[in-house]
Amino acid sequence: MRDNVVTRPRVLLTRRWPAEVETRLSARYQVTLNEADVAMSTSEIRRAMLEYDAVCPTVSDRLDVSAFPDRPRARILGNFGVGVNHIDLAAAQAADIAVTNTPGVLTDATADLTIGLILMLTRRLAEGERELRQGRWQGWRPTHMMGMALSGRTLGILGMGRIGRAVAQRAQAAFGMKIAYFSRTPLRETELEGLSALACDSVEALIDASDIISLHCPGGGANRHLIDAGRLRRMGPSRYLINTARGDIIDQAALTDALQRRAIGGAGLDVFENEPDIPATLLNAPNAVLLPHLGSATRETRAAMGMMVADSLDAFFDGTELVNRVA
Ligand code: DGY
Repeated sequence: MRDNVVTRPRVLLTRRWPAEVETRLSARYQVTLNEADVAMSTSEIRRAMLEYDAVCPTVSDRLDVSAFPDRPRARILGNFGVGVNHIDLAAAQAADIAVTNTPGVLTDATADLTIGLILMLTRRLAEGERELRQGRWQGWRPTHMMGMALSGRTLGILGMGRIGRAVAQRAQAAFGMKIAYFSRTPLRETELEGLSALACDSVEALIDASDIISLHCPGGGANRHLIDAGRLRRMGPSRYLINTARGDIIDQAALTDALQRRAIGGAGLDVFENEPDIPATLLNAPNAVLLPHLGSATRETRAAMGMMVADSLDAFFDGTELVNRVA
């Protein structure tokens, strides 16, 4: 009998994954786990492309063109996550490597966290908790730490895909907010799924119509620095900015400057340019709530993301259709 261990496809997971997914993958593949759970460098990933049949990266890996060697062994990149702007898709295509992602399963978790950030920012929750823990609270008083009420305010959604729509549904149904949106691809009435929402024809019109602007478009490409110094100036000191999508959609240096000068109302950020390095000027900025990229971080969602990658690998090595193929 042939030793089927020898013929099992070799799979590299670049970080630790939920245990149940690692167990499932190990039953079928020769899986190499990143026991230390530290980010791999691009040159380590380039070497891995020569050794493994499948490489499964995350948003913390940089797969630019230099990650793709000539004649790679890898035939598929099973990305653990929906956003793929950390992968040079053209380079993958040129190397004849399929790329898959994990859409849909993280919509609710990310939308919930977005609402959490909106509340943290507008009701000053992190600021209040810091005051209390640091022993600075002087007791209840009528003018203490007043925030902004959400009911009747307008939430502007930039990028009306699955997550944008899920945030809008929550804001309208649970908080009585009005919704405005800007989307490069116009939405059909049926896609609004009962939402009553004002369609804006430019980012500027969206900013003008909104009290809070929440970003839900992909990162990279034409969306890099979509929110630049000029658009931050347009927001002015009364508007809030929320980003649970990708850090590079905002010119982070311009945002930090605007926060330091209190030139915008505030920012709630779950994503950053150059994660996990956050400049001290942003760490110290007033009116900012900063979270460590927790959008999809529930046990249920992370397991579902991993299982979706496992389904993609199974489909690829079984030679059946790859449903979540992005390149
Ligand atoms: C996603 O799925 O894009 C999350 O941000 C993690 O990468």
